[in-house]
Amino acid sequence: MIYPIVVYGSPLLRKVAKEIDPDYPDLNQLVEDMFETMCVSDGVGLAAPQIGKSIRIFIIDATPMAEDDPSLEGFKRVFINPKIVEEKGDVWTFTEGCLSLPNIREDVDRQSEIRIQYVDEDFKPHDEQFDGIKARVIQHEYDHLNGVLFVDKVAPLRKKLLKSKLNDIAKGKSEANYKTIVLK
Ligand code: NI
Repeated sequence: MIYPIVVYGSPLLRKVAKEIDPDYPDLNQLVEDMFETMCVSDGVGLAAPQIGKSIRIFIIDATPMAEDDPSLEGFKRVFINPKIVEEKGDVWTFTEGCLSLPNIREDVDRQSEIRIQYVDEDFKPHDEQFDGIKARVIQHEYDHLNGVLFVDKVAPLRKKLLKSKLNDIAKGKSEANYKTIVLK
């Protein structure tokens, strides 16, 4: 099933999402639906709040970016109940986009290395370190679980310039080539 993408202006995107148990109903189906939804929307990451579920799960498939960065080949994961336990390294700037913010791309500063603990779709625990784009995508998705959007991190002047675009999205006037919804 393909879900519409919940966009900016929806209070759900601002909530701290809840952890889930291994007996969460139809988890496999949900994960499959998230990948399907992300794929048709041309995203490389998707967090559950973006499909209207305030639970701590996000998925990543960075394969579309592997053309520019071969190290991303096959980087496809499910992160459940993740915890970034360490962020370190130099702060670097990268232009980010988000399915919940159609047609907005802005430079965001983040630290370059992370260590994250999570369980996968089989509830198998992992403790891993990532850097570069992988860390970047994880940090972006992880923020969604805490009600944070990348536009919160852009410079104040840039944010001012985005204001009318953001208001339009919140009013349901977004032009995306995938289905969007403002969840009130
Ligand atoms: Ni996003």
